[in-house]
Amino acid sequence: MDVEETLVLVKPDGVARNLTGEILRRIEAKGYSLVDIRMIEPDRALLAEHYAEHEGKPFYEPLVEFMLSGPVVALRVAGNRVIEGFRALAGTTDPTTAAPGTIRGDFGRDWGLAVQQNLVHGSDSPESAARELALWFSA
Ligand code: TYD
Ligand code: MG
Repeated sequence: MDVEETLVLVKPDGVARNLTGEILRRIEAKGYSLVDIRMIEPDRALLAEHYAEHEGKPFYEPLVEFMLSGPVVALRVAGNRVIEGFRALAGTTDPTTAAPGTIRGDFGRDWGLAVQQNLVHGSDSPESAARELALWFSA
């Protein structure tokens, strides 16, 4: 066993479309455990830290604007190899081509919307998970 913790965010589109429960259901059905949960309206400073690796990229400003558009549900999730495993549940970044059976593949809609409206975030490494969990679950 390699029990890890990861940060999952239900992004503003997921919350607005009432998909928080469905996303949590999939996480729990896979056998992962919910350790903590918060609804947060992030400010620019939090998002700048969260998305620091993407600063300067063409999609950065639209991404931050989108993440400011409504509340986000942050989940601390634990499980065996959950960091990689949750990203498999989420599907690939672009929801228009994410595989059916994944969160992004099943619920991502091709409405000509930007890629950033892809419902969820999941940490991509143990280092990212530790950093992001500290960020979203600090006082
Ligand atoms: P990234 O970390 O590459 O994707 P993931 O969420 O799958 O780890 O990018 C962060 C977010 O930025 C991504 O969820 C959606 C948005 N994004 C775009 O809008 N356009 C892009 O070309 C990329 C790569 C990402
Ligand atoms: Mg990422």
